Amino acid sequence: MTSQLWWYLARSSGIVAWALVAASVVWGLFLSTKILGTRPRPAWLLDLHRYLGGLALTFTGIHLVSLVLDSYVHFGLVQLLVPLTSSYRPGAVAWGIVGFYLLLAVELTSLARKRLSKRVWRAAHLLSFPLFAFSTVHGLLAGADGTSRPLFAAMAGSSALVAVLTVASVDAHRTRDPKRVPAVARSTAATVRPVPSPQPQRQR
Ligand code: HEM
Repeated sequence: MTSQLWWYLARSSGIVAWALVAASVVWGLFLSTKILGTRPRPAWLLDLHRYLGGLALTFTGIHLVSLVLDSYVHFGLVQLLVPLTSSYRPGAVAWGIVGFYLLLAVELTSLARKRLSKRVWRAAHLLSFPLFAFSTVHGLLAGADGTSRPLFAAMAGSSALVAVLTVASVDAHRTRDPKRVPAVARSTAATVRPVPSPQPQRQR
């Protein structure tokens, strides 16, 4: 019974961690598209986004600890942290390990946000997209429930929502900042030399 318990905990915490990652990405995109209204926004909207990310890391921790405690398959530190070393579905687990590193990168840079330049923080925060993709593929391939209809529907539905909101967010950024000229237009402008204006003829 105890071994079953850890197995159930590994599965359920994995699913909760995935749902929290998905919710955090969707919430972040809602904030960046301004669907929830323009500034000034109440602080709790941003706090909720942060809270979801932190909880996702906590549940991933529970997921990993219960995998170690479940004696059905051996999971030690190496199998948890080094891709392709586990005897259980190595490829499927590798997606989760990379997802875990991406989650760590996003969370740690968010905690250190004040000490980082905006550019570095933003680049690290964009890792949330591959994080969502890696943990979704991992959830579908690694677990016993990947083929269950409700989980599959939740994963497919949230992937579609993330795709739509990403397009809306890119569009919102483009219309908000009219100074941003597309790269192609900028390079064309740089290569077109200004036509010299005709010199006025000297009067003798
Ligand atoms: C070091 C990182 C990770 C390792 C080694 C790992 C390993 C595993 C393993 C072995 C399973 C199969 C459990 C079973 O059915 O017995 C699993 C399932 C799962 N994992 Fe992970 N995982 C990792 C990270 C993550 C992360 C970051 C997430 C999500 C944010 C996640 C979400 C899931 C989900 C949703 C399942 C499916 C549960 C099920 O359908 O039964 N995992 N993981």
